Amino acid sequence: MTAVSRRSLLPMQGHTRGNRSAATCHYKCGDACLKQEASTSTSPPFAAVAAAALSRRGFLAGVGAAGLVAGAGSSVFGAMPAAAVPNGKGGQPGGDGLAHVSSSFAFAPIAAVAATVDQLNVPEGFYWHPIISWGDAVVAGAPAFDLDAQSAEAQEMQFGYNNDYLAILQERWNWRSAVLVANHEYTNENLMYPGFVDEASLTVEQLRTSMAAHGMSVVKLHREDRTGPWNPEPSPLNRRITALSTRFRVSGPAAGSDLLKTSADPEGRTVIGTLNNCAGGTTPWGTVLSGEENFDQYFRGDPLGDPRNRDTYGLVGEDGSAGDGRFWWKVDQRFDVVAEPNEINRFGWVVEVDPHDPTSTPRKHTALGRFKHEGAGTSLAADGRVVVYMGDDTADQHLYKFVSKNPYRGGTSAWARARGADLLEEGDLHVARFSAEGDPSSDHDGTGEWIPLTRDGASAVPGMTLEEVLVFTRAAAAAVGATPMDRPEDVERNPVNGKVYLACTNNSRKAAPNPANPRAMNRFGHVVEITEDHDDAAATTFSWTLVLVCGDPADPTTHFAGYPKELVSPISCPDNLTFDDQGGLWLTTDGAPGSIGSNDALHYVPLAGPERGHVQQFLSVPTGGECTGPWVDLDGGSVFVNVQHPGETDESRVDAPASLFPYDGTNRTPRPSVVQVFRP
Ligand code: FEO
Ligand code: CA
Ligand code: CA
Repeated sequence: MTAVSRRSLLPMQGHTRGNRSAATCHYKCGDACLKQEASTSTSPPFAAVAAAALSRRGFLAGVGAAGLVAGAGSSVFGAMPAAAVPNGKGGQPGGDGLAHVSSSFAFAPIAAVAATVDQLNVPEGFYWHPIISWGDAVVAGAPAFDLDAQSAEAQEMQFGYNNDYLAILQERWNWRSAVLVANHEYTNENLMYPGFVDEASLTVEQLRTSMAAHGMSVVKLHREDRTGPWNPEPSPLNRRITALSTRFRVSGPAAGSDLLKTSADPEGRTVIGTLNNCAGGTTPWGTVLSGEENFDQYFRGDPLGDPRNRDTYGLVGEDGSAGDGRFWWKVDQRFDVVAEPNEINRFGWVVEVDPHDPTSTPRKHTALGRFKHEGAGTSLAADGRVVVYMGDDTADQHLYKFVSKNPYRGGTSAWARARGADLLEEGDLHVARFSAEGDPSSDHDGTGEWIPLTRDGASAVPGMTLEEVLVFTRAAAAAVGATPMDRPEDVERNPVNGKVYLACTNNSRKAAPNPANPRAMNRFGHVVEITEDHDDAAATTFSWTLVLVCGDPADPTTHFAGYPKELVSPISCPDNLTFDDQGGLWLTTDGAPGSIGSNDALHYVPLAGPERGHVQQFLSVPTGGECTGPWVDLDGGSVFVNVQHPGETDESRVDAPASLFPYDGTNRTPRPSVVQVFRP
């Protein structure tokens, strides 16, 4: 492809790559599939070992049935109750057909919904309610959403586009009040701007509007009923953080590095904006972390530029073309790598925002490394040190763990929040290496180790300085033989059983299978369960097992922790995950349409007892959409998700969209939204 066409949507129409439409590849990950940024890790292939592991775990046994139904039962809260979507396969054998999540929360699993259906489907007896949508007012003085009168100034006060991470932080002493924090990963210009032709034709004001639609939102919520709908309310806490104007402080060991200095910031300590924020995490001290993911796609590349960005981070296409990025260089030349070579090094970090202080300066934490961060799952070690688990979501990239130098002392006061953020500035970064070795009589498939990349404030990688390890972390991970993974997305520690769960979404460009990623062509993804030695998040060794090997249960390579396949819901391309207060796993998908032909979904998976591995579908999102950011509140009877990029198909345009979600009767184009699913 030429430098220009690599970024042009039109030539790609009709093509799919892996599990995604061309539109999704283009807008979501900057055509990562077309670039060569595979791992250069020295880990050897383990095909034979992997086959043995699959066989030993009985993954080849059992065949189940799977099928799709045309969706039924979509509704908007206030219009009518959600009709049930019958599911003949759900429920316990011989039971009442319900998934009993807790003593007070049960649901009838829904069937998979065909990928062409423009509906949000929820279980019988539940309602769904869009809390806030793209363009809704956030900050005082924000104008009402007007598709035909968009501006950067308005968008900087309105809810951004393509919300991915979601936190609903309820006030402990006031059940009527909560703070919603969402991030906004990327923009679909074809669904935002009437008359869209191609990205090269966008006006500078449209480009600035798109930049303002990136970032994060903080929104105060209110409800009148303990189990009722949440709604936004005006508050001094309400805040937009954008790619256009928000000032970030660079924190940690790489702050002030020559690698981060630019003409606008000769100190290398202040960055304007955050972008491509994908998943995230909520810290014990009450702040929110968010991962900057596919940052390369925002830059006009330089084929002759720094090979550490050019090759390892995918800045330049396989054919050597540089591309125009998202044309943001027309707004600000720092997005042109030729003009400002180091600006790209200032993206690809985990950022931290304090939603309880609208005047606080968010931070970019260099101690946590620079890669295509999916999210950041925080836990505490036995001695109180802070542990952050992180995936690098690209084919054959790696799984990381940061361990702070100092312990968290408790509290969520303003002082505690500031000290908590300080904890993420000092500590050791590790990367995972998985082995098939282990006790063959155990329940585990293998063991592993956390290899240090930094140790006691110094580089642990021969030939690389500390700053190089943190800025070019992918090269450091490859140098120490980290295990290439099948696109590691969300990774979080289950607060009930203490185990760590990693969603590997898929990998259709794999260099070679290995024990923890045993499929040669992994179209459907899998979930790894990691048990830290001594149940300590700071451990340097662990054991692991494949708890889910996803796909249509009729596929003999699938595995659902040994649960009878004929009773599980089909599931493909696991992405975001969270846990309920019983320790149950809630798992969203990103790629079901292109792999098993159904709309993306949210699934519930018990992890303990006889129901372990019983995947049961809770909802499905509209055509072209992705289900992200799950947040579960069993006490309040609510499950929250983000409906991201509804209607994102190759042909979708404003006025001819594939979806009209959230179906308010007036919208001419779909609007990404935060959705609450609840039973009053
Ligand atoms: Fe933005 Fe890894 O999904
Ligand atoms: Ca994701
Ligand atoms: Ca994803």
